[in-house]
Amino acid sequence: MIEPPGQKAQKIIERDCDVISSCTARPYPLVIDSARGALITDVEGREYIDLVAGIAVMNVGHSNPRVTAAVSAQMEKMAHCGFPDFYAEPPVKLAEQLKQMSGYDRVFFCNSGTESVEAAIKLAMWKTHRQGLVGFYGGFHGRTLGALSLTCSKVKHKEHFPTIRTVHAHYAYCYRCPLNLEYPGCGTQCAAYIEEVLFKREMSPADIAAIVVEPVQGEGGYIVPPPEFHKAIRRICDDHDVLMVADEVQAGCYRTGTFMAMENFGVRADIVCMAKALGGGLPMGAMLSDHDIMDWPPGTHSNTFGGNLLASAASSAALEYMEKEDLGSYAKELGAHIMQRLREMQLQYPVIGDVRGLGLMIGIEMVKPDGSVDPDTRDRTIQEGFKEGIILLSCGDSVIRFSPPLVITRDEIDTALDRFELALKRAVSQE
Ligand SMILES: Cc1ncc(COP(=O)(O)O)c(C=O)c1O
Repeated sequence: MIEPPGQKAQKIIERDCDVISSCTARPYPLVIDSARGALITDVEGREYIDLVAGIAVMNVGHSNPRVTAAVSAQMEKMAHCGFPDFYAEPPVKLAEQLKQMSGYDRVFFCNSGTESVEAAIKLAMWKTHRQGLVGFYGGFHGRTLGALSLTCSKVKHKEHFPTIRTVHAHYAYCYRCPLNLEYPGCGTQCAAYIEEVLFKREMSPADIAAIVVEPVQGEGGYIVPPPEFHKAIRRICDDHDVLMVADEVQAGCYRTGTFMAMENFGVRADIVCMAKALGGGLPMGAMLSDHDIMDWPPGTHSNTFGGNLLASAASSAALEYMEKEDLGSYAKELGAHIMQRLREMQLQYPVIGDVRGLGLMIGIEMVKPDGSVDPDTRDRTIQEGFKEGIILLSCGDSVIRFSPPLVITRDEIDTALDRFELALKRAVSQE
């Protein structure tokens, strides 16, 4: 068992506390030195199995040799060219790949998830000449002020900050239905609420530029909606000439089995936001749409680093790798295996109230005997997991997320799940 932090780690943590902004929050004292595939080594030389992939970023695995080679080769030539002002091939190649993989024929490049959401908000407002937005309770779309207006998972994110005009609807969180209904008899009333309540009492659809939705809620608790949910939102958007924006920042890039998670639901949004895994470890964001929507004139929106050559080279190599290695099929297969093992644990540990997921985006919700949320046991399990050598993170009110690199091996995942069970056992015994 690991009893962190060691001396080296402790020193770095102390230096960190002296200079890094106090808004940075770490759940446990892991000081990382290096990583390969799904294995992380700390500064003391101890090895951990990575079950979060740098928050769903390292889908192609840490230090992926093909991404490393592509970035090194590009670095030899040129790192940055100011793509918004000049032409260059690497971002064009990347946009062509995205077009082929997503079916959208226009791409705007930026550097992060929140920037891709910001770009989507601006495009929707520009196109519709409307300024209202609809987001969802539990949704997370980033922290810049536009995206933050949509974000609605923890009030701490929003306290003292201004927002643009946004109303929030219920997400299809069937395990704890916000409307106290039962699926499937409910007729997805959560989606119907948008038309029946929000559009009638809160904001006219004539003022709404876009409904922005995560295909699977991430930060909000790894919540997979039922098949009808996104179709209902698509229909509402169509009926009211409102644009539908899919925030694929966390769920995209084959994490859920398909390139875009919305494909699992048979729905095509008007605008798509991508980031995280898209860059293969480098900062890369993209906002995708079609030419008839993304027809804003030059200068309407831009940045400095969008289409950065290093990030584009990394991203191209990462996408090629994902496709060639068929990481989507692997995510589905391995995800099913993990869910089965977690459901077996659930039979033994009633503290696991729900096991849910799509591909390798899996959450377990921890509950007290009366069914209410149990964040304390959740947090203890994560701490104990760290001591056992697995890297876990929380989400939602009481959820542990599993979002490992999509290259994690079956042996690694089985070892990680054995360690997880030990951690859970200890966390429960400390109650
Ligand atoms: C669905 C979703 N959208 C947007 C963001 C914001 O991305 P970034 O942190 O890169 O700005 C996140 C980050 O976790 C996310 O999960």
